[in-house]
Amino acid sequence: MAAQPDPTMPAVRRARAVLYERWQPRGKSPLFTRAPGRLNLIGEHTDYNRGYVMPVAVDRAVYVAAVPREDRLVRVWSDQLDAEAQFSLDHLKDRHHDWARYLQGVAWALDELKMPLVGMEAAIYSDVPRGAGLSSSAALEVSWALAMLQLCGRSLPPKQLALTCQRAENDYVGMRCGILDQFASVFGQRNTALLIDCDTQEIQPVPLGGKGFSMVVCDTNKPRQLVDSEYNQRRASCEEAARILGLPSLRPATPEMVMAAREALGEERFRRAWHVVTENARVLDMAEALQRGDLETVGQLVSASHKSLRDYYEVSCPELEAMWAATQRAGCYGSRLVGAGFGGAVLALVSPEEVGPFSRRVAEEYQQETRYQPNIFAVQIADGAEVLER
Ligand code: GLA
Repeated sequence: MAAQPDPTMPAVRRARAVLYERWQPRGKSPLFTRAPGRLNLIGEHTDYNRGYVMPVAVDRAVYVAAVPREDRLVRVWSDQLDAEAQFSLDHLKDRHHDWARYLQGVAWALDELKMPLVGMEAAIYSDVPRGAGLSSSAALEVSWALAMLQLCGRSLPPKQLALTCQRAENDYVGMRCGILDQFASVFGQRNTALLIDCDTQEIQPVPLGGKGFSMVVCDTNKPRQLVDSEYNQRRASCEEAARILGLPSLRPATPEMVMAAREALGEERFRRAWHVVTENARVLDMAEALQRGDLETVGQLVSASHKSLRDYYEVSCPELEAMWAATQRAGCYGSRLVGAGFGGAVLALVSPEEVGPFSRRVAEEYQQETRYQPNIFAVQIADGAEVLER
C-alpha cells in the first residue's frame, strides 16, 4: 500500500526554512515539535468551575524547530508575527509584554520543576489563527514546552505537561485559565472528542467519525479586548457564588440549588452560576446524543450553549451575535461562540455537503452587517501534541 502523505510536512519544512534563514545553525540538526489548536464542542467556562468540557484538537498547529545553544540565551523567531524575541534563562523574572511571555512562562514553569533547561535558537511556524478561539496560546505553550524538554533530554508525563503549561499561563502570564486548552492540545485524538471531567481530570474519548457533521469555524476577525480581565472577573464571580452556596466549587451545584439561592447570590452571580450548572448538564447530554447519533439534539444543545453564554454569562459581543445569527439563517445543526468570548469565532455544525454554500452565505451576510471581513474554514479533528521524528 502506498504510504499516506504526511499532512504536517509542509509546515515542518517551513519551520525548518525559517530556522535556517534566521539563525543559520551550523552542524546541528534541529528538532521539531507540533501542538494543535483546539475547538470546544460544548462546555464553555466550565473548566475552572471543575465541570465538564468536550474539546477536540484541530488540524491547525504550532510548530517549533529548535537547536540548542551552549549558553542560557533563548532566541526565537515567529514566522506568523514576523517578530523576534530573546530572553535569558537566568532572568526569567524580567517578563516580556507580548507573545514571548508565553515562552518565558513555560521556561519558568519548567525551571520550577528543576528541568535542566538549555539555551536555544528556535523558529515558530503556526497556522492556528490568533484570537479566533482556537487557543493558539495553549498550542504555543505545549509545542514550546515539548521543544525545551526535548533539548535538555527530559520529558514529562502528558498530564503534567499540560498542567505545567497551564501553570505558566496562570502564574506567569496572569490569565487564570482552566485546563481545557492545554488538555485538548496534549490529549487530542483524530476523529474523537474528549469528554473531560475537570474535577477528576479523567478523559473519556467520544468517537466522532461518521457522525454526519462538519465543524466550520466562523472567525469574526474582531480583535478581542479586555478578555483577560473580564475572564478573571467571571471566574471570581463563580468562586463567590460557590462560597455563598457553601460549596467548594460550582461542580456539585444543581440548577435547583442555584435557583433556590437566587436572592442570596444576587443577580449577577446567579446568572454566572446558572450558565455553569446548565452548561455542565448540556455537556453530559451531548455525550449521550452523540452516542445515539441524534444530530438534532446535538445541534440544539450547541445553540442552547450559545444563548446561555450570551444571556447568562454575558461573554458575547455584537460581532459574535451578527455571525451567530448568520450561521443560524444559513442552516446548520447548531452553532455557538467558542472559547472565552468577547470576539473570536462561532463554531457551526454543518452537513458535510453544505459546507461550501453555507460558508459563502455566512461570509456575505456577516460582512454586510459588520465592517469586518470574516475568516471561515472547516477543520478536521487531529491528534494531540508530539515531538516529530525527522
Ligand atoms: C479560555 C480558557 C479556557 C476556558 C475557555 C472558556 O479558552 O483558556 O481554560 O476557560 O476560555 O471555556
